[in-house]
Amino acid sequence: MTQDELKTLVGQAALKYVTPDTVVGVGTGSTVDKFIDALAASGIRIAGAVSSSVRSTERMKALGIAVLEASEVEALQVYIDGADEIDHHGHMVKGGGAALTREKIVADLAKTFVCIADESKLVDALGRFPLPVEVIPMAAAQITRRFAAMGGTARLREGCVTDNSCQILDVTGLRITDPAAFEADVNQWPGVVTVGVFARNKASVCLLGTAQGVKTLTF
Ligand code: A5P
Repeated sequence: MTQDELKTLVGQAALKYVTPDTVVGVGTGSTVDKFIDALAASGIRIAGAVSSSVRSTERMKALGIAVLEASEVEALQVYIDGADEIDHHGHMVKGGGAALTREKIVADLAKTFVCIADESKLVDALGRFPLPVEVIPMAAAQITRRFAAMGGTARLREGCVTDNSCQILDVTGLRITDPAAFEADVNQWPGVVTVGVFARNKASVCLLGTAQGVKTLTF
């Protein structure tokens, strides 16, 4: 099966976590696009979706799915999103699509984070995928130096302005052995908006697309 077919498979599999007449949290990316398409085609009536990006909002609206503001809901039963990497404990690296800040905000509203990913995303330790970090532009240089001091190389993502009018640094050379401690540390550096490690808001379930079908990992 191609990677695209695996994404379609897990996008469809995520439908079983959607309860009719509830509000669903929806992430961002090519895998989530498959989920949005499957949801629209399924005929499952939901009360609406809270979206993590302009990209997903536009896709859902075009398919007739109502989109609500995060401020309109107190809690979500489920948040469905992809990942750039996920480890065997449900910790993830996210932000390849530059939507990490809103993804973390919507994930934080949800009781259950369902990660949908093809098997190439499963890793033993986070750090293979360049770590996205959303930053306030005036702090980009000093944050780059802080990463250098810990052995990382941060590069500004050229031409990328986030939905929050900020910039993304992609950091290579890190091996993140304690994701929760790393997230807590980097998050409090001045000028960091959001670090792309999701440990506090880790996945509860991962639907992993494999050549043998969808594997359900629970954490
Ligand atoms: C968006 O900012 C990301 O966090 C995505 O969830 C992640 O990059 C996965 O995207 P794909 O489903 O396109 O691989």
